[in-house]
Amino acid sequence: MIKSEEIRELFLNFFKKRGHTIVNSSSLIPVDDPSVLLTTAGMQQFKKYYTREKDPLKDFGSQRTASIQKCFRTTDIDEVGDERHLTFFEMLGNFSFGPIINDDPLDFGNGGYFKKAAIYWAHEFLTKELGLKIDYTTIFGGEKNVPLDEDSLKIWQEIGINKIEKRGREDNFWGPTGDEGPCGPTTEIYLEGIEVWNLVFNEYYQDKNGNLKKLEFPGVDTGMGFERLMKILQKTETIFETDLFEPLREILDNFSGEIRRKRIIMDHLRGSVFLIADGLFPSNLERGYILRRILRRLLLHLRFLEINFDVLEKMIKAIIEKYKAFYPELNNFEKIKKVIFDELQVFNETLNKGLREFNKIIKGNESEEALGEKVFYLYTSYGLPVEISKELLREQEINFSQKAEEVFKQLFEKHRLISKKEENG
Ligand code: GLY
Repeated sequence: MIKSEEIRELFLNFFKKRGHTIVNSSSLIPVDDPSVLLTTAGMQQFKKYYTREKDPLKDFGSQRTASIQKCFRTTDIDEVGDERHLTFFEMLGNFSFGPIINDDPLDFGNGGYFKKAAIYWAHEFLTKELGLKIDYTTIFGGEKNVPLDEDSLKIWQEIGINKIEKRGREDNFWGPTGDEGPCGPTTEIYLEGIEVWNLVFNEYYQDKNGNLKKLEFPGVDTGMGFERLMKILQKTETIFETDLFEPLREILDNFSGEIRRKRIIMDHLRGSVFLIADGLFPSNLERGYILRRILRRLLLHLRFLEINFDVLEKMIKAIIEKYKAFYPELNNFEKIKKVIFDELQVFNETLNKGLREFNKIIKGNESEEALGEKVFYLYTSYGLPVEISKELLREQEINFSQKAEEVFKQLFEKHRLISKKEENG
């Protein structure tokens, strides 16, 4: 069975041979993109090369780069626990900036390329290098002032892919990250019904008002989901059975409990370890709060599986062992452990009391208003975060409706204003 470590190498070598400079993953805390809290895509560290504020030839000696980027997305955080959603994941990508010198897949130089080379290489890497079969591809079908991507259609036909679907802006137009930046139509590659590789043709810059203007030079930005690719290569049932999660799974196999809880533990712990290794601390503010949220949810599920801190320590070590050769910043076990343990130990007390009260007062037959009020009470009197209450309600199949949410929010807002007034004396 081919290992994830080998695939990372194959990918980077494939593009290195084709004139790409290999660039390390940037930090999960964005370096060059204040528009987002965390790094969500490989192109983020390259934004200024698309806009020509920076010169790729000067910095990379090439208009082409490739990377394996650590990414963290909160959009699907509530879905984590099912078969395929993650917060933290790795993305394999190749990028082209600046003038198109030669859009020819046989050109192994260092100039800018565009759709033809990008599509041919993606096809070659998947089908020849990895021996996989492409199910179908999708292209941008045209919407508003962005036309149908006829070039990609022709290129796929030329290669011999017959099933090509046209899709709209929702599916096949990517970016920008945050509220402005490079963006453009995409062509996406599906294997076994799963979208695996997204090839973005950055032809536009979207400003803060949502207006698109053409970039001086169109670029390429591709992103392939590593966990998804490994699932297909290793023929596993879900991403969680791939070797990327193997060390954690081996430990969790000793515990009985719902698979959903184990997946949340695997995802949230792995994500936390990577975030902390990049210098993040849990807090009540912005990105720190993202980390706090996943650590708290992690603790909830550890509790339900009766996993103690010794085992947690083993799991932290297992993640570091699995990833540290490629991500040396993880070589910081003591610090990572301390940040996690400190946060969880403090929250453990709150959680104990909050859970007891939750079980006492939540009956499951209350009105929507009453439910909103009770969740608010749990928060103000016991410090039980609303996300945790919601998670518990969901597990018990109690619907926390829109109305309940509104009641909670109103009470919360009132409470906030009163506290503020008191603070200001
Ligand atoms: N930047 C391409 C992607 O995230 O899919």
